[in-house]
Amino acid sequence: MGIGGMHSTMCFALDGVQSPLFWAGNSKYSKMATIKAFLNEQIGSALSKVAGIENCNPNVITASKPEFGDYQANGIMAVAKQLRQNPRDLAQSVVSQLEELSLELVECYEIAGPGFINIKLRNTALLQRANLVLADPTSLVTETRSPKTIVVDYSSPNLAKEMHVGHLRGTIIGDSLVRVMERCGHNIIRQNHVGDWGTQFGMLIAHLQEVQSQDGEDLPQQLSDLEDFYRAAKDRFDSDEEFANTSRLSVVKLQGGDPEYYEVWQQFIEESLRHCEAIYDKLNVTLKREDLDAESRYNDDLGNIVSTLESRGLLSESDGAKVVFLPEFIGKDGSQLPVIIQKSDGGYLYSTTDLAAIKLRSQELNVDRSLYVVDARQSLHFQQVFAVAKAAGIASETISLEHIAYGTMMGSDGKPFKTRSGDIIKLIDLLNESVSRAFNLVSKKNPVLEEELRKTIAEKVGIAAVKYADLSKNRTSDYIFDWSTMLSFEGNTAPYLMYAYARIKSILRKEEAQNFDTVITAMEEQEERLLILKILQLSEIVQAVAEDCFPNQLCNYLYELAGLFMKFYEACPILKADETTKNSRLALSALTAHTLKVGLDMLGIETLEQM
Ligand code: ARG
Repeated sequence: MGIGGMHSTMCFALDGVQSPLFWAGNSKYSKMATIKAFLNEQIGSALSKVAGIENCNPNVITASKPEFGDYQANGIMAVAKQLRQNPRDLAQSVVSQLEELSLELVECYEIAGPGFINIKLRNTALLQRANLVLADPTSLVTETRSPKTIVVDYSSPNLAKEMHVGHLRGTIIGDSLVRVMERCGHNIIRQNHVGDWGTQFGMLIAHLQEVQSQDGEDLPQQLSDLEDFYRAAKDRFDSDEEFANTSRLSVVKLQGGDPEYYEVWQQFIEESLRHCEAIYDKLNVTLKREDLDAESRYNDDLGNIVSTLESRGLLSESDGAKVVFLPEFIGKDGSQLPVIIQKSDGGYLYSTTDLAAIKLRSQELNVDRSLYVVDARQSLHFQQVFAVAKAAGIASETISLEHIAYGTMMGSDGKPFKTRSGDIIKLIDLLNESVSRAFNLVSKKNPVLEEELRKTIAEKVGIAAVKYADLSKNRTSDYIFDWSTMLSFEGNTAPYLMYAYARIKSILRKEEAQNFDTVITAMEEQEERLLILKILQLSEIVQAVAEDCFPNQLCNYLYELAGLFMKFYEACPILKADETTKNSRLALSALTAHTLKVGLDMLGIETLEQM
């Protein structure tokens, strides 16, 4: 049985009684609950009251089809089942209960199908909300009522090498999440957990000392291509036993705190960080120096981690190494999988450092959530580290440790994205290529634009295209990197959305459109109503992204928003309409542009006023 439409006979129209619950006319929009959260609360308490069960979840969602109203409550049937009651009867009692509240937000309720409640919102209430946002555009995204302290560990490249395409996803997904969460009012601590302390650094130091003594070139020049430098050092290491020995000695000296080695290492790290920062800059990624949470930061605490594990009786010996066995980690052959904490030569591992980082985040930073935006291939590592941290009491009782895993970027051949000759692609090369492709595209589309302007546009569009193509995919899946779709002006792409924004701005710039009142009054057309409702739903999406960490939900939202604007623009004349309607539609256009801009900003994408 399907769900009936709003036009059916059971739509209970309510009189416009003011309800003080959250609809105070002059309250700041950003302090309000989202429409969905408000309905969920109201319907939830009505349901709980009628059912005599505490905290019932009415499961309110946006209506799956416009005929079903604006929202629907799907949770009645489950409660009815629990009570062994007819679900439609229960829905009827809930609706009667709700009618008594006379919510200003709701036009009518309708019971549909086996016991859904469809909800249609009142136009005046939607207009009021929209106008509150227009009066204070900064309040478009409502603030969470339970702000949390959240660490987002993201980007985190290994500083021995150049950033490559494999670092793109973690960097931009993480950056989008921090932007979203900050907008919601959470306290965000960015952590760029760069790899700066492995054995590779001995080899790099040795090579650096060698080349510096040979030719007087300055450091930035020698390290202008970290990938080349790394390869040269590795070649030396593999082919020259003496060099390999010097390298091993260098790590020992470095880790033993020898000032000379420490200084060379520091110079290398500094140069490598500059490479990363150039990429962050180009990508419009918000990571700064102060967000560094380098592995080396934890050196002094690694011994304490070992003693903590020891004192909790968690450590075992395995081939001379100190390891932790947990019953939940069993290998394919049925044997227990060890988490190695300290190697037989005394060296520590990636896991040890991560345990120390959890200690800091739990015990000193007091965070509620610690998110790790890292490749899905590290999922066993995180499961193990989280489990050991919990078992040892290194993690607080309340901290939520979450691996925000993402899939691999594939080439058109369905294999991890590489150059034709099979080399790893440097991230900077990929970004430059995107900008140059965007330049050709813009030049073709708009050859009369001045070259400087075309370059500026291409810089923004090229970067946005790469970012959006990635963010718009479900992060957990692998995806195929494809230039032509990401740079298309049609479909769910950055160029499409940026163009939609620029187009609205150009409408607003037209002479006749200047000086309009920023009040929306017209909502007679369905296209106007759908657009307004969509705008008011941004907060719901943003809260979901902050919760579940899937930025593709925000991309889909923006794509739908742009589509609804196009429909509105086709169906509702603006400049030719009477003065009041014209003003209202201009205000609605301005609000749409603002919503697109704020939404794209949360994806780390910059808009252009003109394209
Ligand atoms: N540097 C690591 C890598 O390149 C990623 C670090 C992720 N963060 C963490 N806390 N383990 O694979």
